[in-house]
Amino acid sequence: MSEVLIEAVGLSTGYAPGEPALRGVTFAANAGQIVAVLGPNGGGKTTLMRALLGELPPFEGRVDVHGEIAYVPQTEQARLDFPVSALDVALMGAYRRTPWWKRLGRAEHDRALQALDRVGLRERAKDRFGTLSGGQRQRVLIARALVQDAPILLLDEPFSGVDRASEATILGLLGQLRAQGHALLICTHDIEQGRGFDRVLGVHGEQTFFGPGAALDAAALERTYGSEIVTLGEGAAIAVQCHHHDHEHDQHG
Ligand SMILES: Nc1ncnc2c1ncn2[C@@H]1O[C@H](COP(=O)(O)OP(=O)(O)OP(=O)(O)O)[C@@H](O)[C@H]1O
Ligand SMILES: [Mg+2]
Repeated sequence: MSEVLIEAVGLSTGYAPGEPALRGVTFAANAGQIVAVLGPNGGGKTTLMRALLGELPPFEGRVDVHGEIAYVPQTEQARLDFPVSALDVALMGAYRRTPWWKRLGRAEHDRALQALDRVGLRERAKDRFGTLSGGQRQRVLIARALVQDAPILLLDEPFSGVDRASEATILGLLGQLRAQGHALLICTHDIEQGRGFDRVLGVHGEQTFFGPGAALDAAALERTYGSEIVTLGEGAAIAVQCHHHDHEHDQHG
């Protein structure tokens, strides 16, 4: 269970050469581990995911990936007026495993339906993807990743817009994948949730922390979130950056 499935060593990456958006990232995710990626808005969480996927080049250092990656993006870029059903989207996860000359068969359909069932959306299978709520679409994308059945899963804020009950369902699912030996990276703004996973990776333009959640102390939190952090005592803390922004919007109209 200690096999490394994905790692970065001294990774620096970004969108323009000479101007890294993210520097100094060294971490590993083993089979059977969930790594939480914490950081403020613009900290570099999505940038890291894109570098791990090979969409962004390393300026320095390297990324080592041992196996296929399933990716649940932060916000779906797909056109919402495109006439595909929730089942069609979940089925997309099967395409990479199916030779080009074969049509997707009964087995793939069953797997896609089963995945929708696992995210609590089996009865919405025939509904058009674009007519689902944001949280439901997020869950369909998680179903797609389940169908893909890759050893490595990257999930960029999978709980945004998802209600508490569905969040608990999805967390249970991700825990099952972990127990089966998958490696998962989960970007989240929920510090306490992140702390509960096997490892925490903090980013704020550069890596600010990597280690077990218990070692995520006040200094590491401040490096990660700057001074926009509120300590609640007993080691509990929340980042208040998002709320600040909302406030400013309110005041300026
Ligand atoms: N396509 C892009 N082109 C140029 N710069 C980008 C691009 N996408 C992101 N950036 C920059 O890279 C930095 C990191 O952004 P990133 O999207 O990785 O942050 P994040 O941690 O995912 O934030 P959020 O919590 O808002 O999702 C930011 O300064 C951002 O402006
Ligand atoms: Mg992001």
